[in-house]
Amino acid sequence: MDILTYHIETFGCQMNVHDSEEIAGALNAIGLQPAKDLKSAQVIVFNTCCIRDTAEKKILGKIGDLKHLKQQSKDVIIAIVGCMMQQEGAAENLIKKFPFIDIILGNVNIDELAAKVEEILENKRIKRKSYISVLMHEKPEIVENRPVYRTSGTNAWVNIIYGCDNFCTYCIVPYVRGRERSRQPQTILQEVRGLIDEGYKEITLLGQNVNSYGSDRKDGYGFAELLEQIAKIDGKYRLRFMTSHPKDFNDKVIDIIAATPNFCNNIHLPLQAGSNKILAAMNRKYTRERYMEIIDKIRAKMPDCGITTDIMVGFPGETEEDFQDTMDLVRKVRYSNAFTFVYSPRTGTAAARMEQIPYSVKKDRITRLIALQNNISKELSDSYVGGVYEVLAEDAPRQNQLCGRTESGRLVTFEGSKDKIGSFLTIKITKAKASALWGEIENGK
Ligand code: SAH
Ligand code: SF4
Ligand code: F3S
Repeated sequence: MDILTYHIETFGCQMNVHDSEEIAGALNAIGLQPAKDLKSAQVIVFNTCCIRDTAEKKILGKIGDLKHLKQQSKDVIIAIVGCMMQQEGAAENLIKKFPFIDIILGNVNIDELAAKVEEILENKRIKRKSYISVLMHEKPEIVENRPVYRTSGTNAWVNIIYGCDNFCTYCIVPYVRGRERSRQPQTILQEVRGLIDEGYKEITLLGQNVNSYGSDRKDGYGFAELLEQIAKIDGKYRLRFMTSHPKDFNDKVIDIIAATPNFCNNIHLPLQAGSNKILAAMNRKYTRERYMEIIDKIRAKMPDCGITTDIMVGFPGETEEDFQDTMDLVRKVRYSNAFTFVYSPRTGTAAARMEQIPYSVKKDRITRLIALQNNISKELSDSYVGGVYEVLAEDAPRQNQLCGRTESGRLVTFEGSKDKIGSFLTIKITKAKASALWGEIENGK
């Protein structure tokens, strides 16, 4: 019999990317293999995201497209899992709209997927009924030692904390990912050591707010202590982490990153808004002054640190003056890159119940913000030209072409053969665009 294959489509953040690696691990463990593409797969999994309305609309459109596949082959198994399904009533509404879906699971119980797929495969002839199982545990148990099928090349994702307790008033994540649960330090250290021994060259520690690592345990062992111990692991590799929340970012963390060569001089520090009034309405628990203080401290200790951010425009009550406060901070910080979003009301969150501002105003603001950031990114990119940087070769987008990042997080494309993937190379930068650099390998190194 032919080996059955699966295809996983992942939407949303790195947490979901890593969850999908665990889903793949579980499907491999029951004897399935990755398919060439979606059309040729016997099991199709969509790992969903509901952070913004645009994300949900895109996913719903793609689920609709699956109807044809199901009409062509009734044996195809369709599973929709992840954050979108954790919203109240979402699973029931989805199945009404798309009755051809076979399995619906939330992100806290994706472990059930492989067993359910096996059950359906074994009972092929029996008329199928959709299986919906979305647990609404506030604080689910952490499951360790799940098989992971890593798909991110030289980089490996490592969760350190699950969930979020911050309840920023615009955000759905605390509702769909539950309360904060930190993994045990020993388990994390063991995993990181194992990955480095296996040959991974970059480890990215993951959490919705990595800086609150350990606060659910209350034993005084927090993010800085974890970083301190990870920093002691020998070897030539890079360490990154995301996402940091300015409210819990402390000086000790800056000191450790600055003192440890393996920690990349690259920090993602979401700003969201530059106006104190809006930051308070968002429940972010920091002011623009405190945010700038952190930036100044980072720059004092690591002058070449690449700083990136997330910014939202059009939050309820945002006036032109508030927006100008955001623009002003963007000019002051000079981010190497910013992920910019139009605020999208999420049902069940506090901000969705506030008075909304018109879309035309939001659109106009995001256009101006993107233009400003592009100019800054381009100026900073230009400053790389002529310089020589260490780049980790991560991928080969084309024949004899490689790409990878500098320590500061800049993407560089250069000529080189595939066998160099995973090597640290010395690259001279020759050309720059706002968000991309080009270069050449120096002296064959
Ligand atoms: N935990 C991270 C953010 C995760 S969500 C943090 O606290 O920074 C990634 C980004 O999506 C957020 O930083 C925010 O800018 C954006 N975002 C979250 N909810 C949103 C909403 N309702 N509308 C628009 N953007 C949103
Ligand atoms: Fe959402 Fe705020 Fe938690 Fe980030 S910290 S996931 S923005 S609630
Ligand atoms: Fe989306 Fe869930 Fe991540 S809502 S952004 S996939 S935590």
